[in-house]
Amino acid sequence: MIPAFDELQLRLPRHIAVIMDGNGRWAKARHLPRFIGHQRGSEAVRRVVEAAADMGVEYLTLYAFSSENWRRPPAEVEDLMGLLRRYLRRDLAEMHANGVRLRVIGERSRLSGDIVSLIENAETQTAANCRLNVTLAISYGGQDEIVAAARAIAQAVAAGRLDPAAVDHQLFASRLDTAGLPDPDLVIRTSGEKRLSNFLLWQAAYAELVFVDTLWPDFDRADLEAAIREYQARDRRFGGRRE
Ligand code: IPE
Ligand code: IPE
Ligand code: MG
Repeated sequence: MIPAFDELQLRLPRHIAVIMDGNGRWAKARHLPRFIGHQRGSEAVRRVVEAAADMGVEYLTLYAFSSENWRRPPAEVEDLMGLLRRYLRRDLAEMHANGVRLRVIGERSRLSGDIVSLIENAETQTAANCRLNVTLAISYGGQDEIVAAARAIAQAVAAGRLDPAAVDHQLFASRLDTAGLPDPDLVIRTSGEKRLSNFLLWQAAYAELVFVDTLWPDFDRADLEAAIREYQARDRRFGGRRE
């Protein structure tokens, strides 16, 4: 589809995760309300999902709302939830037609009932798709996720359903929200911030981290390609050595 792409395709990260940051600063720089920044951010989501599907990326995980983002002013939280509703309603058909399987990770009990229904409907409707797996992290926090897994394991042990000796990496990972997904190969964060902000703490143990200055609403296909090229220039050793 896209010319001069072959070498990009050669070592494509199987799973790309993105911390979509900088909507507020994008709006501020234009003297616009933050809401417009978030709105433009949701358009960037559409672009990047399409680009990732075209490139043949298998898994794309997008950090849309953190467990800490509940601390924002209620009006901003409501704006973000409104955009999420719109995304789950309006973009679902197109994603489904494009072979996208949608999943959502995070603490659902904090979301309103209608959003939970939209999520369940989207997950069910797209469950058989396999071109691109898109996972939205909403009300998600890596520490919450790890604590919840530890609690579930402790309960199973206490109830006599699980032998503590059987608790290993694989079992632990199977109790995380991301059970069944491969670990991310590449984590991209936009807006120049250099931290994980509680994103995929367990899963990103050996991910390559790429920090870009672009603000999320400006992020496009070319930025995604540039991040993939940076990833491809890295030497992934996983604690071992080449020779
Ligand atoms: C990212 O943009 C969107 C969310 C975190 C929900 P921000 O709203 O964090 O934008 P900045 O960091 O203030 O620029
Ligand atoms: C991280 O961005 C969360 C998302 C992008 C959804 P924040 O803007 O909330 O992170 P901090 O507060 O700068 O660490
Ligand atoms: Mg931010």
